[in-house]
Amino acid sequence: MLALEVRDLVVEVDGRRVLDGLNLEVPKGELHVLFGPNGSGKTSLILTILGLPQYKVLRGQIILNGEDITFLPINERVKRGIGVLFQNPPQIKGVRLGDVLKKLAKDETPMEIARKVNFPAFYLDRELNCGFSGGEIRRCELTQLMAQKPSFLLLDEPDSGVDVENLELVGSIINELAKGRSGILITHLGYILRYVEAQRAHVILNGKIACSGRPIEILDHILREGYWWCDKCKEMRGD
Ligand SMILES: Nc1ncnc2c1ncn2[C@@H]1O[C@H](COP(=O)(O)OP(=O)(O)O)[C@@H](O)[C@H]1O
Ligand SMILES: [Mg+2]
Repeated sequence: MLALEVRDLVVEVDGRRVLDGLNLEVPKGELHVLFGPNGSGKTSLILTILGLPQYKVLRGQIILNGEDITFLPINERVKRGIGVLFQNPPQIKGVRLGDVLKKLAKDETPMEIARKVNFPAFYLDRELNCGFSGGEIRRCELTQLMAQKPSFLLLDEPDSGVDVENLELVGSIINELAKGRSGILITHLGYILRYVEAQRAHVILNGKIACSGRPIEILDHILREGYWWCDKCKEMRGD
């Protein structure tokens, strides 16, 4: 049974093609990693699955738990269990982290959630992402996912800017969030894979999947040989 199926997805933003016939399947209970060079379309895929209107679907389908959600509004997708850790979340003045967590959380207090990401209590009074450092923004995003407990996770570079001390913490929180659930995890240099269990990885090149395989093997190739290796792999498959 598939949690997510993306079929032949073609997407434009601002008149520019960002996804170009992308196919992807994530079975229920699996977390898949997405690699790809800057500008290859990773964030565009996540924001299209979330349903941001500027990402215009020209062709293809997004199926979540057997239901076609390609043209549903964002709130309907969130209701169906989609949760996002944004690469560049907005700063929201006047909205305090503690109030957001109180609204979202089902069985934990904001204080309990904050403690799990090493945030001191006074961070709950801070405005969302205002004045937070890069690594703090990731952890701030994670607190909201911990409160929301979405059934399908879209994690856009949760390890970027996170210091060594907090990387293991972020990894263990992602493992906890992903337990019994499904999702996609984008990571640039793969640091988080030391701590996160992922079943499969894919490489995006020019808006489509060029290569898929075991996360550690793919990462190893990319770090040793660069992304040109994935392009070669595509050539070998005759795409
Ligand atoms: N809202 C937008 N307006 C204009 N160009 C965009 C927008 N979003 C993405 N792009 C362009 O689409 C390409 C893919 O971007 P993105 O999906 O963010 O790549 P990445 O794989 O680094 O996450 C990039 O060249 C980027 O500049
Ligand atoms: Mg990105």
